[in-house]
Amino acid sequence: MKTFDHSGKVIAVTGGSRGIGEAIVRRLCAEGASVFATFNSAPERAEKIASEIREAGGTVTYLQVNVSDEESVKGFIEAVVTQGGRIDALVNNAGITKDGLIMRMSGKDWQDVVDTNLTGVFYACKAAARPMMQQRTGRIVNIGSIVGLQGNAGQVNYSSAKAGLIGLTRSLARELASRNVFVNCVAPGFVETDMTEKLTEEQKASFFSNIPMKRAAGPDEIASVVSFFIAPESSYITGQVLNVDGGLAM
Ligand SMILES: NC(=O)c1ccc[n+]([C@@H]2O[C@H](COP(=O)([O-])OP(=O)(O)OC[C@H]3O[C@@H](n4cnc5c(N)ncnc54)[C@H](O)[C@@H]3O)[C@@H](O)[C@H]2O)c1
Repeated sequence: MKTFDHSGKVIAVTGGSRGIGEAIVRRLCAEGASVFATFNSAPERAEKIASEIREAGGTVTYLQVNVSDEESVKGFIEAVVTQGGRIDALVNNAGITKDGLIMRMSGKDWQDVVDTNLTGVFYACKAAARPMMQQRTGRIVNIGSIVGLQGNAGQVNYSSAKAGLIGLTRSLARELASRNVFVNCVAPGFVETDMTEKLTEEQKASFFSNIPMKRAAGPDEIASVVSFFIAPESSYITGQVLNVDGGLAM
């Protein structure tokens, strides 16, 4: 489904080979953007998505990137600017979970989750800020989570990283607004992806019982909101966190 027109835009998306990221890449391509997306592992999956998008007339390039490695992220943004000629938007979507109650959570599980979900976003924003400021236009959309607002037992690492992402979003929005670069955060609730596939039926039922809409989101219901934050229709919005959660957090 098409919502906004992104014809001619060059957009970078991290973690674009499955789940929410894949939906974002497919939607933005269908809406006319030239998308540069990352995959971390499973190149064959990225290649399959790319060929489907190209067959449908879209423009996409997949590059292998590890968002927790600063050089890798810098190289990705440089490749986008070199090959695409500019960078109109950056969507920081890549993320991982390594859940466990605090007594059983190792320092590595803490660090890995913070490195990927928060530090990786810092690297990407830092690399994209300069070309966006020079262009005097740009959009950054960070994919947070409602657990960054509400917390969640078993996720001190993930919820801390996602809470940090809100601070990053708001601080960067203040830094870049005068250069016409806007930074917002989309905070999904429960979305049907590989990430939530790991949960037991009991855990899912418990989540749904608390959601006023009593269902999970599909990945494209997140992608459409990301598209809005990149579109001219959101031209007076920066530093915001928009919950896309079926009414869970209100
Ligand atoms: N699924 C949900 O219910 C839900 C809810 C709230 C927020 N989110 C957030 O949405 C985003 C996407 O989640 P998803 O459900 O699609 O997850 P997913 O596990 O299906 O996909 C995550 C993506 O991130 C990529 N990735 C992970 N580590 C990486 C690294 N070091 N470098 C580069 N890429 C890496 C993976 O390759 C994959 O493409 C994440 O930031 C997640 O925290 C998801």
